[in-house]
Amino acid sequence: MSEEKCKRVYITTPIYYVNDVPHIGHAYTTIIADTLARYSRLAGMDVFFLTGTDEHGQKIEQAAKARGKSPKEYADEISGRFKSLWDAFDISYDKFIRTTDKEHEIGVQKAFEVMYRNGDIYKDVYRGHYCVSCETFFTPQQLVDDEFCPECGRSTSIVEEESYFFRLSKYQDRLLEWYESRPDRILPKSKKNEVVNFVKNGLDDLSITRTSFDWGIKLPKSVDDPKHVMYVWLDALMNYITALGYGTDEKLMHYWPAKVHLIGKDILRFHAIYWPAFLMSLGLELPHHVAAHGWWTRNGEKMSKSKGNVVDPKEIADAYGLENFRYFMLREVPFGQDGDFSQRALIDRINSDLGNDLGNLLNRIIGMSGKYFDFSIESDGVATHHGEELKEAEEIFGSVEPYLYEIQTNRYLEELWKTLRIANKAIDTGMPWAKMKEGKEDEAMATIALVANILAKVSVLLHPFMPKTTQTIAGALGFTIDHESYLRLIREGALLERFKIEKVPPLFPRIEEPLVETPAEKAAKEEAKKPKNTEPKKGDAEDSSGANLITIDRFFEVSLKVGTVVEANEVPKSKKLLRLMVDLGEENPRQIVAGIKEWYAPDDLVGTQVCVVANLKPAKLMGMVSEGMILAAKDDDGLALIRPEKPKKAGTAIG
Ligand code: ME8
Ligand code: MG
Repeated sequence: MSEEKCKRVYITTPIYYVNDVPHIGHAYTTIIADTLARYSRLAGMDVFFLTGTDEHGQKIEQAAKARGKSPKEYADEISGRFKSLWDAFDISYDKFIRTTDKEHEIGVQKAFEVMYRNGDIYKDVYRGHYCVSCETFFTPQQLVDDEFCPECGRSTSIVEEESYFFRLSKYQDRLLEWYESRPDRILPKSKKNEVVNFVKNGLDDLSITRTSFDWGIKLPKSVDDPKHVMYVWLDALMNYITALGYGTDEKLMHYWPAKVHLIGKDILRFHAIYWPAFLMSLGLELPHHVAAHGWWTRNGEKMSKSKGNVVDPKEIADAYGLENFRYFMLREVPFGQDGDFSQRALIDRINSDLGNDLGNLLNRIIGMSGKYFDFSIESDGVATHHGEELKEAEEIFGSVEPYLYEIQTNRYLEELWKTLRIANKAIDTGMPWAKMKEGKEDEAMATIALVANILAKVSVLLHPFMPKTTQTIAGALGFTIDHESYLRLIREGALLERFKIEKVPPLFPRIEEPLVETPAEKAAKEEAKKPKNTEPKKGDAEDSSGANLITIDRFFEVSLKVGTVVEANEVPKSKKLLRLMVDLGEENPRQIVAGIKEWYAPDDLVGTQVCVVANLKPAKLMGMVSEGMILAAKDDDGLALIRPEKPKKAGTAIG
C-alpha cells in the first residue's frame, strides 16, 4: 500500500462461505487485515474495516440440505460462528456484513440495474461445464479428461441455461491499463504477471445469473425475470460497496475506494479481474490494491475435514495465547508464500523471538533498574553514551512502515527484532553491573535507558500485532500506547521522559511440549485407549515434534516397497500431477498418480526407482485411480524423491 495523503482507509477481508466452519486460513486473512487496520488507526487514519460472510449459492443450498436445514437457518448458524470467533479474537472490524442482509440485496440489485441500463448486461444462452464445488464454469479445453474440474478434480456437470451475461470482454484493455498504472496494484508484486497473462489471453463475457437453483438474490424488479438469481460471485463481490451503503444509504461511501482487499491466492482472479471490471461498469473508482496471500498447510499437508487435520484457530489461541498466535502467523511466512502450521514452529517462535529476545530484555532492565536505581529511569545520558546504537535503532524505527504497506509483515517484524538485538548487545558490552562497581552510574543508567527506549518504541510499532501484550510492556515503562505516544516516540523520535519501571510477571513463559492435539491425534489416542485393543500402545506419547510415538508393530502395518518406474506421463491439464506406472514385482505395474510434475520430467523418471507405500487404500485423483503413494521430501528448495541407494529388485520390502 502506498503512503496515503487522504486519511481514510478502507480495509476488507473476503466474506467467508458459510459451508464450513472457520479454520486458521480464515483467521490468517482476518488477522492480517486487523493488524493493518490497527496500524492505520494508530497512525491517525480514519479506518473502516469490513469482514463478513458469503451466504448464497448452490454450494450452500446443498450444504444446508445435507443437514436438513433451510439455507437461511444454516447460514445463520455458521455466520454466527465466524462472528463469535472474530469477537473472541478481538478483531477490530467496523462492520460484519452478511450477503443475506436486506441492504446488501437492495444494493446488489441496484448495481445490476446500473450495469444493465448502461448496456453491459445482456441475455443469452449458456452452455458449459459447471463445478458446483468451485461455483465456476469451465470451458471444454479447461477440463481434465473432458469431465473433471481443473481446480478441485471433482466431476463437473453440463449446464445449459438461459443466462444474463456481463460484457467482461469489453474491459480487457482498461484492465490491462489499470495493472500497469502502478507497480503494486496486485500484491505481492510477483503475482501481477499471472493476472496480466490471464487477461491478455482474452476474456469471455461472464455468465452472471442462474436459473437452476433459488438460493440467491433475485434480479431487480425493473428487469423482471423471476426465474433468475444472481451468480454468487457477482453478489459476493458487491459486498465491498453495499457495506458502505451503496444503493441504500450512501453516507459511508466516502470510504470508497478500498485501500486494500485482502484475500487468499485462491480468489485472486475474481478480485483482480471481475471486480475491477464491475466497478468500471458502475462508474466507481477502483481499489488501490488487491493483496493475495499464500496457503496454509498443516504439517506439510492440505487441511481437510476428512484428514482430520484442520487446525481450529480458537483452540490454538486458547492454548498458546491469542497474541502469540497472531505474532506467529504474521512472522512465519513471507506474504504471498505458502506456510506450514506446526505446533513446533509456533512453540519455537514463542520461546525464541518472544521469550528470549523480547521478554528477557524487559526482565533484564526491570531487574537492573530495581537493583541500581530503585526503578527510576531517565534518558538524558542515552545520546552521550549510546549515540551510535540509538541512531541505528531510530533509523530502523523510521524505515519499517513501508513493509506494512506491502503487507510484508514478516520483514517488518524482522526489522523490529534487529533493534532488540542492538539493545541486548548494548547490555552485554555496556555491562551496567561493572559500571556500577566502577562508580560510573551515569553510564549504567544510560544503557538501561537505551534499552527501555528501544523496548518502548518496539512496543508501539508492535502494538497492531499484539495489542494487549504491548500495552503491558508500555505500562511497565510508564506510558500508554496511543496515537499521541506514536507521534512522539516514532514520528518525532523523542525519548521517554523520566519514569518509574513497574514490575510485570513474565510475559512469555517457556513452552516445552505441544499443547493441542489434532482431531487425528485425539482419535488415535481414543483408539489406543479402547480395551478391545490387545496391543497396548505403550509407546504412545507425544515426542518433541508433536507427532504421536508409535510402536514398531504399527510401523509395520505400512507396507513400503521399492518400485521401478516403467512408464511416466503428464496428466493433461494438471499443473501438479504425473501418472506413473510402477513395477512392484507384482503381476501388473501399479498406476500411481503423484504430485511431482513441478520437479520431475516424465522421461527422467522412467527406469528409476522409487519407494512406494504399497498398501494404501486406492484413491481417485483427477478421475484416475491411484494405487499407492511415492515417498518424497519437500522443503523450500523443492521436492526430492526418496530412492534406494543402490538398485534393488522391484517389490523389495523396505523396513
Ligand atoms: O472464497 N490458507 O470464501 P471461502 C490460507 N466466499 N487462507 C485460507 C485457507 C488456507 N488454507 N483457507 C481459506 C470464498 N483461506 C468466497 C469469497 S469475497 C467477495 C468471496 C482464506 O470461505 C483465504 O483468505 O472459501 C481465502 O481467500 C478465503 O479464506 C476463502 O474463503
Ligand atoms: Mg474456498
